[in-house]
Amino acid sequence: MFTLENKTAIVTGAAGGIGAACALMFAQHGIGAMVLTDVREDRLDASAAAIEKETGVKSVCAACDIRSEEADKALAARAAEKMGRVDILLNCAGVSKTGSLYDVSEDQWNFTFDINVKGLFFICREVYRIMEKQGGGCIINLASQAARGGGLVVSPDYPSSKAAVLTLTKSLAKSGAARRIRVNTVSPGLITTEMTADFGYDPKTVPLGRLGTGADVAGAALFLASDYASYITGACIDVNGGIAMI
Ligand SMILES: NC(=O)c1ccc[n+]([C@@H]2O[C@H](COP(=O)([O-])OP(=O)(O)OC[C@H]3O[C@@H](n4cnc5c(N)ncnc54)[C@H](O)[C@@H]3O)[C@@H](O)[C@H]2O)c1
Repeated sequence: MFTLENKTAIVTGAAGGIGAACALMFAQHGIGAMVLTDVREDRLDASAAAIEKETGVKSVCAACDIRSEEADKALAARAAEKMGRVDILLNCAGVSKTGSLYDVSEDQWNFTFDINVKGLFFICREVYRIMEKQGGGCIINLASQAARGGGLVVSPDYPSSKAAVLTLTKSLAKSGAARRIRVNTVSPGLITTEMTADFGYDPKTVPLGRLGTGADVAGAALFLASDYASYITGACIDVNGGIAMI
């Protein structure tokens, strides 16, 4: 069985569907300590309470808007102080909108990239610093099937930002390898969460015959975070029920 015993983790976007499911699965697999973070403080507390109720694991909740480099620095420092080290950074924070190319304002483009790419980079860098000092670690970034396929209903800013996540992950994996920092991506397909509630996904379009769940994505994140994936870096695991096989 996979175990994360004695490991510590930061999970961003932990108030969201996929982030909460991943945090729960980490707790179910023995995580030593966990910092949960999100911009939505009340929902974050609810995620942490649900995890504690089900597993007994008590997480530290730290509200953070990952767009701010200063906030990311403070978050990483607080996590290192609370947990002693940071073995796993799982980046689930993200935003998307439906719409056509004509719906994308300059503000929307910047908003999407500020969170999905810039914020992700800064939190990765702050935690990378800690991992470098402690002699290794593991970063997992959430990309999307849309990064390679262009997306079904989302506006073009979203797949573009997720394509950047795929490449940024490989760049970090290259420099991280010599420092024993593994960096990988999980690319979900059609997953039922708040983000996609009004996307109108049709299960019949999925070869495996159903939409995905947060737990489906969490399984891939758990594997990448575990020592079973100790020889895997710069890779992307597709969790999409077979909608794209590339
Ligand atoms: N649900 C899907 O079908 C799907 C498919 C492909 C990729 N993804 C990706 O998976 C990740 C999780 O998605 P989800 O479906 O759980 O969505 P979600 O909306 O349920 O969760 C995303 C979380 O990110 C948080 N967030 C947004 N902006 C933030 C900021 N500035 N700082 C900190 N936190 C912020 C939100 O508050 C939310 O809790 C996202 O990166 C998303 O793009 C989801």
